[in-house]
Amino acid sequence: MTTHRPVFLELWRIHLPIPAVVSILHRVSGVLMVLSIPVFAWLFAQALASPAGFAASAAFLGHPLVQLGLLVMAWALLHHLIAGIRYLMIDLGLGVDRSTARGTAWTALTAALALTILVAGGMLL
Ligand code: HEM
Repeated sequence: MTTHRPVFLELWRIHLPIPAVVSILHRVSGVLMVLSIPVFAWLFAQALASPAGFAASAAFLGHPLVQLGLLVMAWALLHHLIAGIRYLMIDLGLGVDRSTARGTAWTALTAALALTILVAGGMLL
């Protein structure tokens, strides 16, 4: 079957609607959290194994790059939690119309970023 629909594949000029951005980030954050489980489990096991293991885990977690990674994980959890609650509301039929869906998408995106900044502030204390 041949179709004559116009094809527009200039990816740098396609602007995703904000609910699509929140949806992609929800999937990315979920995958990040799943991938991080073995790392956290290993750190936890090492910390509980012996006093030396605890010190090694604490030293690892204190490294600036690891702290940055922890901040990314904090964002992942916050974004996934807030956007996930948004999806559960949408599943209940709440906020489905386009303008409300856009508003709640912006709210989820900015709330997760704002809370991540608060977490970063807490880490610096
Ligand atoms: C904190 C509370 C959480 C809430 C409210 C939540 C909510 C949700 C919801 C509603 C979905 C389905 C989204 C859809 O319909 O497309 C989902 C998907 C998913 N969640 Fe969560 N979740 C939470 C925690 C977690 C955690 C802790 C993990 C990982 C350790 C996780 C991993 C995932 C993954 C991998 C998906 C599939 C993503 C996709 O295929 O798009 N979630 N979550």
